[in-house]
Amino acid sequence: MKNTYFDLIDQSYYFPQNGFDIKDDYLNFHGISLKYLIEKYGTPFKILYLPRIGEQVKRAKNLFNRAIRKHKYKGKYHYCYCTKCSHFSHVVKAALKEKTHLETSSSFDIDLILKLYAEGELKKKTIIVHNGYKTQDYLEKILALQKTGFKNSIIVLDSKNELKRIKEMLGEEHQQIKLGIRMAINEEPQSAYYTSRLGIRPSEVLEFYKNEIEGNESFSLKMVHFFIDSGIKDTMYYWGEFQKALKLFVQIKELCPSVKALNLGGGFPIRNNLGFDYDYEYMINEIVGNIKTVCQEEEIEEPDIFTEFGKYTVGESGAIIFSVLEQKQQNDAEKWYMVDNSLMNTIPDAWSILEKFILLPVNKWDKEYARVNIGGISCDHSDYYNSEEMNQQIFLPSYEDSDPEPLYIGFFHTGAYQDSISGYGGIKHCLIPSPKLIMIDRDEKGHFVDTVYRNEQTVDEMLTILGYK
Ligand SMILES: Cc1ncc(COP(=O)(O)O)c(C=O)c1O
Repeated sequence: MKNTYFDLIDQSYYFPQNGFDIKDDYLNFHGISLKYLIEKYGTPFKILYLPRIGEQVKRAKNLFNRAIRKHKYKGKYHYCYCTKCSHFSHVVKAALKEKTHLETSSSFDIDLILKLYAEGELKKKTIIVHNGYKTQDYLEKILALQKTGFKNSIIVLDSKNELKRIKEMLGEEHQQIKLGIRMAINEEPQSAYYTSRLGIRPSEVLEFYKNEIEGNESFSLKMVHFFIDSGIKDTMYYWGEFQKALKLFVQIKELCPSVKALNLGGGFPIRNNLGFDYDYEYMINEIVGNIKTVCQEEEIEEPDIFTEFGKYTVGESGAIIFSVLEQKQQNDAEKWYMVDNSLMNTIPDAWSILEKFILLPVNKWDKEYARVNIGGISCDHSDYYNSEEMNQQIFLPSYEDSDPEPLYIGFFHTGAYQDSISGYGGIKHCLIPSPKLIMIDRDEKGHFVDTVYRNEQTVDEMLTILGYK
């Protein structure tokens, strides 16, 4: 009996499955022949399969709208794409094609919005939700954006201080500003800290509203925001924080009828193993149903529901393909497959937060399988990958060094965050620019000599890498 890699996958999972198939002995991803790409471009390479973005947006919109009909829910659903997940112009445009709204996280994001507007990709009525820490620069750009007619730009206050700074910036000037308030959540019990640094403590929100927003004609509070960063999961923890946010929403709504939106942030998971089984329909039904029930009990208007799905939107579009350069048996039990790039540099989340991705060979599915560790070619001992989400070990086809064709492997569903966190081509997480670099030396007399080697990264430098003209 032969224990081929194909048999292993076929027995362990339902296969072929959405996005993955074998054609003529090679793996296809979303129907694309990886063999063709390998022959055309050589490894290593990354891909972003843009049509998957539209499919994901459509699926979530359909499920929310179906749940809204089922529950006779009176509010609407708004899908915002969270740009920080992948800022590439092709990605953001693919999301906008599905009439998504956008969520921003830092100053350069506003330049990105203006570029997209100039290219006719979005309209001034597009809803832009501004999250993140509001530096002076970020705030100034948001206020300027609103002045040019982006009437649905909503500043979600991350701290009380932000409102104070907006007031100082406005001075005597009157500008009608739409606000949201982000509620700080309590993290999961195993977290390194208890309450998130993002947002305003729920116990302070009502007083803050009464003292600083109520009665001020420049401001209109529109949105309550919370984001459970460990994800939208059917757990006691998730529903506990969700109910807390709903309670706060009700309390604010009673004080402030202009609040019309509840924003759940991001957090929809994606498939990170072949056995992934998440019931999106059930979760969406529960979310809509729970909001409806509370609003009926409290006799308040049902809010529009906003989400800011990042990873869900673009994660499943991405893959990275490597060749195995060499196999090394380092002791009786441990075999290493050395790949032709660094894992730390290409899928940094695998190293930093132990994120898992779908790992599959592209060829040799008819070979026997072996337990292996995958090593990158950087010098760092952490540059490895050797466990999967459902498995503390990984298996790949074994091969002979004399085989004419190398083993090709791919990490799949890597489209979210990996480029910005690894600084692909010079981009940065949340588009926070590289700081200036100052070189310091001493002259012959022992005095400091400091020179600016490189200034802070500019918007144009960043946006050029991302494909904005
Ligand atoms: C405010 C906010 N919204 C949405 C997201 C997107 O989260 P996800 O990629 O898990 O959907 C993030 C991610 O950090 C966020 O900070």
